[in-house]
Amino acid sequence: MFMLSALIFCVSATTVSYDGRAITIDGQRRVLLSGSIHYPRSTAEMWPDLIKKAKEGGLNSIETYVFWNLHEPVRRQYDFTGNNDLVRFIKTVQDAGLYAVLRIGPYVCAEWNYGGFPVWLHNLPGIELRTANSVFMNEMQNFTTLIVNMMKNEKLFASQGGPIIITQIENEFGNVISSYGDAGKAYIDWCANMAESLNVGVPWIMCQETDAPQPMINTCNGWYCDQFTPNNPNSPKMWTENWTGWFKSWGSKDPHRTAEDVAYAVARFFQTGGTFQNYYMYHGGTNFGRTAGGPYITTTYDYDAPLDEYGNLNQPKWGHLKQLHEVLKSIEFTLTHGDVNNTDFGNSVTATVYATNQSSSCFLSNTNQTTDATIKFQGNQYTVPAWSVSLLPDCKTEVYNSAKVNTQTSVMEKKPNKAENEPVALSWVWKPENIDATAVHGKGHVSVNKIIDQKVVNDASDYLWYMTSLELKEDDPIWSDNMTIRVNATGQVLHAYVNGKYLGSQWAKYGVANYVYEQSVKLNPGNNLISLLSATVGFQNYGPHFDMVQNGIADQVAIVGTKGDEQIIKDLSAHKWTYKVGLRGIEHKFYSLDSKFATKWVANDLPTNRMMTWYKTTFKAPLGTDPVVVDLQGLGKGFAWVNGHNIGRYWPSYLAEDGCSTDACDYRGPYTDSKCVSNCGQPTQRWYHVPRSFLQEGVNTLVLFEELGGNPSLVNFQTVRPGIVCANAYENKTVELSCQGHPISAINFASFGTPDGACGSFQKGSCESSKDVLSILHTECVGKESCILDVSEDKFGAASCGDNVTKRVAVEAVC
Ligand code: GAL
Repeated sequence: MFMLSALIFCVSATTVSYDGRAITIDGQRRVLLSGSIHYPRSTAEMWPDLIKKAKEGGLNSIETYVFWNLHEPVRRQYDFTGNNDLVRFIKTVQDAGLYAVLRIGPYVCAEWNYGGFPVWLHNLPGIELRTANSVFMNEMQNFTTLIVNMMKNEKLFASQGGPIIITQIENEFGNVISSYGDAGKAYIDWCANMAESLNVGVPWIMCQETDAPQPMINTCNGWYCDQFTPNNPNSPKMWTENWTGWFKSWGSKDPHRTAEDVAYAVARFFQTGGTFQNYYMYHGGTNFGRTAGGPYITTTYDYDAPLDEYGNLNQPKWGHLKQLHEVLKSIEFTLTHGDVNNTDFGNSVTATVYATNQSSSCFLSNTNQTTDATIKFQGNQYTVPAWSVSLLPDCKTEVYNSAKVNTQTSVMEKKPNKAENEPVALSWVWKPENIDATAVHGKGHVSVNKIIDQKVVNDASDYLWYMTSLELKEDDPIWSDNMTIRVNATGQVLHAYVNGKYLGSQWAKYGVANYVYEQSVKLNPGNNLISLLSATVGFQNYGPHFDMVQNGIADQVAIVGTKGDEQIIKDLSAHKWTYKVGLRGIEHKFYSLDSKFATKWVANDLPTNRMMTWYKTTFKAPLGTDPVVVDLQGLGKGFAWVNGHNIGRYWPSYLAEDGCSTDACDYRGPYTDSKCVSNCGQPTQRWYHVPRSFLQEGVNTLVLFEELGGNPSLVNFQTVRPGIVCANAYENKTVELSCQGHPISAINFASFGTPDGACGSFQKGSCESSKDVLSILHTECVGKESCILDVSEDKFGAASCGDNVTKRVAVEAVC
């Protein structure tokens, strides 16, 4: 017994070192392929599967930030339970045999509320965030030390035999350092010293920090990092964030970055001497509850990452990168030891040879955005399509080209919930949010003679009521026919009530920090009650001094009387304002079955388009294991809870702006988040992820708080899985068709030769093989969960399409 436990706990230390060429692990120089998976953007139950898929996708490392505001929601009160169980997450990575990169920050940006800072920090006397300020530095050191010690206690650093090979301090401070003057420089030096003093035994990195003090390694973030060189010749070339797509805000379109372009960027990075590359995100996931930042970041954080929001493979991205990873790993030794030699072929075409005594490996890149290149290299002829990189592990045979995708495309579909009788119409009960105390009586928790920033109340809720009374004498000079209330608002939604009556609402757009709400108002002689409900949609997470950005009602609330050309302004800013944090229904947990207040739901007269309304229904969990979403089309804005779990803010009535192009998406040329977008004019987010672990057998409960007014009659639960899958693969390659756990039910289209079109609209080309390719596919694939095909004349029959034509097979299968 003693022997056994001694064996289990005897794990040997791993040494991680580096030089200008590479990260070295246990004496071996490495090509490190990593991917970001943020533990709180999924659930602990999802972690093993996500990490397994990352490993199968060819990664050898997982990167995560550490989210301070989750772990220390109240000063010195910590939470590492459930989905916040960082140790369990790192151990899950370890169990899968992968390395971990721990980005402690603790400022993380990440489109996360307040960039990961707990909002109480803002309220500590004398504090200034992210600068040489002793109050802040003390808190940052306290939390960083806590995390480091937690990892040490569990022996999770590589130096202790654990999986963590790299740790990060701060995040992209170099992007904003100039706004902090000398104190910024002093702060970053302090960060470096503080981190070093923690003796983690593995290297520390700082991303986007051009003057990172040694021995901090500065690393690159972006869509491309081939041009990056670290600030010290001893630092290896590392890429902490290869943005696989982009995030989404309310009102913005769906981003899409092609598999070809991501692969191109990765191949270029390793062609130019990279040693560590991390996909940000590999799995983006979901901003549950109130975790989304921005402001205005959506609940989905899909990111168009290789694994989609729900954990499904995003094909062809996942598979196309997997094939690249295999090639890169096969040439790891040459890449990290070989002498490098570049040949410029003109027109942005470059050959790079990595040569050791034993072998050499080559890259042929064409960074021209439009022109394909045909070059003669070491006696052979190669065609390198525009904006692509070919990999030749033996410097002769092209085994991979970033622009030639041989992986299937999966078109995901939402299927109705088969556990319910169809057609599904959920039956609802409702109750109003009681706003009488605030809107009619102006009652709150505290009163002060000024207008406060919502951060002052520690971000306990999205909602804050601002209430004041205004005594107007009959002879007040302000009386006029045209009187308005004017509110300077900053964040982000405002609902105005006067004397208990709803006056109107307004909200900002993404990226707009301030707006003025002005509305005609009828006031009475005597006392008038003004009640303003402000709702935040996530706090700012990025930019110089982002933490100081105002939230809620800013500096001025005024009543304006207009008489001819004259305006009389009564500024109410210094009035006595009474504040009430949150909403009654949230405080009383209407979303929880255990709440003694969650009673008296009404079954009759279900209201629609009614503001401030609670809705409740029950449903059966969809059968099977496919991920579950709830379709909230028809609703306005609010929060949704499934069995008491807050699945995030919803806002399907916020449509994505116009401006989608009908042109096919072209992978060539630098990606930006406005390229290849979709979903114009549709709800920014219609479907909301309900992790399987939130569901139970039997009856489940969905509760909605509807803030703007909506109609829940269309709400229903669905599962997400591949609907059709398409292959479009080149001759001499192998292609796998898979319905991810479901049988292939039919083949819609198959052709070998020069087929045209894209998945969903394939057409036969001018040249076709003689055999019945569709029947061959039918026999090999239908009824199976996956089938593997060699793309060859042997298999599909001869086709003479001309010497310079690379033949392809195109298949469309139904899952
Ligand atoms: C980076 C930042 C990440 C994330 C990303 C955009 O600048 O480091 O945390 O915010 O931008 O998704």
